[in-house]
Amino acid sequence: MKTQITELFGIQHPIIQGGMHYVGFAELASAVSNAGGLGMITGLTQKSPEALANEIRRCREMTDKPFGVNLTFLPTVSSPDYPGYIKAIIDGGVKAVETAGNNPQKYLPALHEAGIKVIHKCTSVRHALKAESIGCDAVSVDGFECGGHPGEDDVPNFILLPRAADELKIPFVASGGMADGRSLVAALSMGADGINMGTRFIATQEAPVHPNVKQAIVAASELDTRLVMRPLRNTERVLRNAAVDRLLEKERTLGANLKFEDIIEEVAGVYPRIMIDGTMEAGAWSCGMVAGLIHDVPTVKELIDRIMREAEGIITQRLRGMVGA
Ligand SMILES: Cc1cc2nc3c(=O)[nH]c(=O)nc-3n(C[C@H](O)[C@H](O)[C@H](O)COP(=O)(O)O)c2cc1C
Repeated sequence: MKTQITELFGIQHPIIQGGMHYVGFAELASAVSNAGGLGMITGLTQKSPEALANEIRRCREMTDKPFGVNLTFLPTVSSPDYPGYIKAIIDGGVKAVETAGNNPQKYLPALHEAGIKVIHKCTSVRHALKAESIGCDAVSVDGFECGGHPGEDDVPNFILLPRAADELKIPFVASGGMADGRSLVAALSMGADGINMGTRFIATQEAPVHPNVKQAIVAASELDTRLVMRPLRNTERVLRNAAVDRLLEKERTLGANLKFEDIIEEVAGVYPRIMIDGTMEAGAWSCGMVAGLIHDVPTVKELIDRIMREAEGIITQRLRGMVGA
């Protein structure tokens, strides 16, 4: 399939793996790229620019296809060494960067000069337009359904994607709730040039996370996620567990007085305990409503081939048949 996104990133299929903390290691990124999509190493999971440079080298040993690095600009006081991470990305010869969180404007000239294409993740049309105006090459539009941070506007993809298509000139991928060929065809029909998936890629053989995490996603339904940290305007969609229930109870009782320190036990340092140790009640971890559509743990290649086969089948048989009738 050829779209503006496959052309922009030099990939076979219009499927991107979104950056995921403690999931987006070289094993997953290379598997996605080897299967014809665009894999993404999660920059900040690497503790230092040197560690990221090493992870990029590892990924390159596992694939000769293009892959990217996610760089998330966090709303924290003590900022990570972003210039150092950017340098590691450029020196590592990476050709795609997914930025998220804050505005990436400051780093665009250096990235573009190195021939790197930048796709910025947004949860609203106004942020997507801003990304376009500062020179991003593409955007990833994350609807309210998404795992991770859906923003504060709560607009689901059935509205957000066509709104983005109406306003944007640069290509965009649909993100949040994407799982299969039906998702891809729907996204294309709403004006996107591909899809970005997070949660679906965790439940694959190559995702280097504890089997308990994959099983939790397979067992979950679309009703099992919760929104946390809304009072802090840092909303995150997570899988419900005992720690999340405790966190929500604190949010209810403390109301507008809630501070980050009150919930630190449920959110800080949780990812390694969940993703590596498989301690599923350790705290709040991102998961999309799309869990309700995930029933197996295929290899990345089986998943991507299945999505493409299903999408092409829908377009050439189901839809074409309807038009012809
Ligand atoms: C476990 C997990 C961790 C994530 N970590 C990050 C991250 O560090 N940076 C980022 O930009 N997005 C992160 N995301 C968001 C994904 O890149 C992607 O945008 C989102 O999962 C799409 O929604 P979906 O899960 O419905 O596919 C994370 C998502 C999950 C599920």
